[in-house]
Amino acid sequence: MSIHFELKKITTETLKKMKVSGEKISMLTAYDYSMAKLADEGGLEAILVGDSAANVMAGYESTLPITLDHMIYHAQSVVRAVKRALVIVDLPFGTYQSDPIQAYNSAVRIMKESGASAIKIEGGEEIKDSIKSILYSGIPVMGHLGLTPQSINKFGSFKLRAKELDEAEKLISDAKLLEKLGCFSIVLEKIPSDLAEKISRELSIPIIGIGAGNETDGQVLVIHDLLGMNKDFKPKFVRKYLNLHEEITVAVSQYVKDVKSKNFPNKEESF
Ligand code: KIV
Repeated sequence: MSIHFELKKITTETLKKMKVSGEKISMLTAYDYSMAKLADEGGLEAILVGDSAANVMAGYESTLPITLDHMIYHAQSVVRAVKRALVIVDLPFGTYQSDPIQAYNSAVRIMKESGASAIKIEGGEEIKDSIKSILYSGIPVMGHLGLTPQSINKFGSFKLRAKELDEAEKLISDAKLLEKLGCFSIVLEKIPSDLAEKISRELSIPIIGIGAGNETDGQVLVIHDLLGMNKDFKPKFVRKYLNLHEEITVAVSQYVKDVKSKNFPNKEESF
């Protein structure tokens, strides 16, 4: 099957127009050159260099350990690969929360050193000064509310967020604040579908969901989950489009057999 789409660079404005026209936005994570190239060639509108790189690429249990230098390295690799999609990079834990100047410096480093087009940041009211200082410098900001993995130690689990009225009300007010501050889009993670639908309807900026139902303006997943690379990770909100865990382990074990039996390399594969 060959895939056709217009090779025109996607911008934050494109995403806003897609919301107006009702066309859904597709976003996936990528952390390295080869995967980002495949993702871009697949026709996504946005690629997120997520701090989930801490889990997926480095094997940490949370996203907290990843550093700004690590994020810049991943972002540089992704930007080198991508011709069309909008590349958005997560600001990692501890680089923006308490100090607007630190937030500004962290965002500027990402933009200058990687060439990405936007940053993503977790939180609402409590980080509004940091968001403002990044926006003032002309850097597009995507918000992230609901289950915000950098706050996992506060939440204590990866369970559904905003089930209760008070948390749902705070989330709605945070989403409206992010829009008012000038964020170009918001990710809503692991919240009830009807709450995500209400926010998507009431806000004019695109809302991208993960575990937030089907009525948001777009969807995001971690690409390794969609490709089925980790057989032990099966959250309800992930659809596995491939079973690469099996495909890769079978291929590697076949290679092991071929090396041991001297089947590889054969004459044609030798000089
Ligand atoms: O880091 C990440 O992968 C994310 C997505 C899950 C939205 O923030």
